[in-house]
Amino acid sequence: MASTWPFMRRTRESIFALFFVVCDNFVLLTNNIDPYIIEVETEKHMLETKRRVIGQMIVCQGCCCGATHKGRPEVPVEWLKEEWRRRGLLKRFQLSISGCIGPCDVPNVVEISSETGSQWLGNITEFNQYRSLLEWAERSTDAGHLLDLPRELKDHLLRPWR
Ligand code: FES
Repeated sequence: MASTWPFMRRTRESIFALFFVVCDNFVLLTNNIDPYIIEVETEKHMLETKRRVIGQMIVCQGCCCGATHKGRPEVPVEWLKEEWRRRGLLKRFQLSISGCIGPCDVPNVVEISSETGSQWLGNITEFNQYRSLLEWAERSTDAGHLLDLPRELKDHLLRPWR
């Protein structure tokens, strides 16, 4: 065994070296090979769900968002839940009503997550803005992926991190 180990080690190192050489050459040929390799490597080790969800909308109703007793605008939670259910969105676009998600100084806050990242919105204070989010979620569900946010909501994009 002792005599075969160095050989195996050299062989393993050679395989890795060959792998990187091959990858480097692929990278020269196409810019898409790097993400592809990373995806294959990470997917092997991740749990999977049977659900096929294109995104999740987290509507904050915490200490400030929707706190009408503090003079903050209402969050139409029951209406949203009912409409989400009535339009059959739940299986493809998750709706979550949440406690505080952080930026309380710009209530009402909504976070939209998908496999491509997250978008945050703040100052969603009018019923029509929630209606616009609902209709956008329905159009996105029909399209099978998140569409661009409606123009009227783009002014509400929020950067939550610094
Ligand atoms: S209560 Fe909504 S961000 Fe804090």
